[in-house]
Amino acid sequence: DIPKLREVFEPYFRIGAAVNPSTLTAQRELLARHFNSVTAENEMKFASLHPEEERYAFEEADRIVDFAAAHGMAVRGHTLVWHNQTPPWVFQNPSGGAADRETLLARMKSHIETVVSRYKGLIYAWDVVNEAVSDDGGELLRPSKWLDIAGEDFIAKAFEYAHAADPQALLFYNDYNESVPEKREKICELVRSLKEREVPIHGVGLQAHWNLVHPSLDDIRQAIERYASLGVKLHVTELDVSVFLHEDRRTDLKEPEAGMLERQAERYGRIFRLFKEYGEHIESVTFWGAADDYTWLDNFPVRGRKNWPFLFDAGHRPKPSFREVVEAARS
Ligand code: G3I
Repeated sequence: DIPKLREVFEPYFRIGAAVNPSTLTAQRELLARHFNSVTAENEMKFASLHPEEERYAFEEADRIVDFAAAHGMAVRGHTLVWHNQTPPWVFQNPSGGAADRETLLARMKSHIETVVSRYKGLIYAWDVVNEAVSDDGGELLRPSKWLDIAGEDFIAKAFEYAHAADPQALLFYNDYNESVPEKREKICELVRSLKEREVPIHGVGLQAHWNLVHPSLDDIRQAIERYASLGVKLHVTELDVSVFLHEDRRTDLKEPEAGMLERQAERYGRIFRLFKEYGEHIESVTFWGAADDYTWLDNFPVRGRKNWPFLFDAGHRPKPSFREVVEAARS
């Protein structure tokens, strides 16, 4: 009998999966059996929910929330403010020029109020701001229209609007390359300064788009410790372990190579032993998908290149990685 992930990790943290309209059907049984949290992969992003100023589109997002309610799962909301998947109207005047700061902040406020209030009591945690920190160079924040037009405090404002709309919801800053020391320090700097100004932020989301070797276990441990030392909760929000190294651009593999899935299993085992060690700080671990029949990595960094990043294979059977993760929980 195959153990259920959500039961195995019950003493430590929630186990989540990103879903979309097609996986919600194709992976229904697997999701209901193993997971107790879901995140919408795209359906709660600005462009999905609010394609035109006067029009919201909640149907797909509602289906995900309903699915979660029907199966006793928690929902993480992803994401309110991001430089991607935000429709052009947000940053424009009706006449075509750039919107001014007041207009942009008013639009942000009204979007956040509408969305967060709709799911009040149903979505317990929101990725309020996603990926605002820059990966390279000396500057703290990534260039974006939000930053250009509204200035640095677009971040603080987003958290304030979200908190006003649902004072119970946990509010997160979410980012990738979160375990790379230079970026980690910038993220810490941002979160520290928000806390110092008493901005309502409750956690850091570690996306955790990782591979068989990067980031090192040491870097992951240090990232967890540094973020935890800020006095915030930690959610692992988008975990996947690519079987390819960053520089590997091969596109011809139809099946994993010999040894790949065993190396992945070992890696997953170490990662979950670490998460368990920090179970006091980590309250949720979400995969950016559920099984290898669908992953965004099939189109990244090379379009159409198959990847096998999860604990379940394309037929939803447990992989060696599943076995090691369960072993990690029980050891
Ligand atoms: O909806 C259109 C569809 O109409 C069209 O036919 C199709 C053709 O390519 O594209 C569809 O849109 C795609 C969308 O996913 C929905 O499938 C976009 O091209 C594609 O770019 C988009 O990718 C998403 C990506 O965010 C966008 O940046 C991925 O699914 C999603 O997994 C990914 O998720 C992000 C997190 O939100 C933030 N962290 C990183 C993570 C991975 O990139």
